[in-house]
Amino acid sequence: MRLAGTDLSFDVPQLDDLPLFNQSLLEAGMPSPVLRLRKSIEAADGILIVTPEHNRSITALLKNSLDWLSRPANANSWTGKPVAIAGASLGRLGTVAAQQHLRAILGYLDMPTMGQPEVYLQLTAGMITSDGEIADESTKAFLQGYMQKFHRWVRTHSRVAEPVLG
Ligand SMILES: Cc1cc2nc3c(=O)[nH]c(=O)nc-3n(C[C@H](O)[C@H](O)[C@H](O)COP(=O)(O)O)c2cc1C
Repeated sequence: MRLAGTDLSFDVPQLDDLPLFNQSLLEAGMPSPVLRLRKSIEAADGILIVTPEHNRSITALLKNSLDWLSRPANANSWTGKPVAIAGASLGRLGTVAAQQHLRAILGYLDMPTMGQPEVYLQLTAGMITSDGEIADESTKAFLQGYMQKFHRWVRTHSRVAEPVLG
C-alpha cells in the first residue's frame, strides 16, 4: 500500500469476525460483520487481494469472505469489481497454487482480474524490514510497477469510471 503513492487510498477490511457461511444464517438476516464488509467492498473502486497459501489453496478466511458477499445470487457484491491478486509465502512457489485457485473463483464471480504482472513472493530473511519497508531495491521497484498497473486497471475497469450514456 505504501508503494502505491498518494493516488490510491486503501481500506483494509476485517475478515476474521465473519461467521462461517451458512444459508440459514443468511436467510435469518445478514450478520453485522458481513454487512460491514459488504459496505466496504461496495464502496471500493477496485479490490487488491494479497494472500498467503494454505495447503496449496487460498485460506478458509478468504474463501468465506468471497462466499458471503456472493449471496444472495442476485446481489453479488463482487460482480464487475476490478481486482488484482498477489501473494507471499515462505515456500519457493510463493502462493502460485493458491492464486490459480483464486483466479478461478474470481472468474466465476465475474470480476475483471488483472493478468500481469504476477506476484509470487518468496519471503526471505531481511526482504521486509520490521517496520514494513521492502529492503530489496529490485523487489521494491517491481512492486511499485505492479501498483501503478493496478491503479490503471482500476481506472479502466471500475464501474465508477464508466461513461454515462444517453
Ligand atoms: C494450515 C497451513 C497450511 C499452509 N500451507 C502452505 C502451502 O500450501 N504453501 C505455502 O507456501 N505455505 C503454506 N503455509 C505457510 C503459510 O503460507 C505462511 O507462510 C506461514 O504460515 C507463515 O505465515 P506468517 O509469516 O504470516 O506467520 C501454510 C500454513 C498453514 C498454517
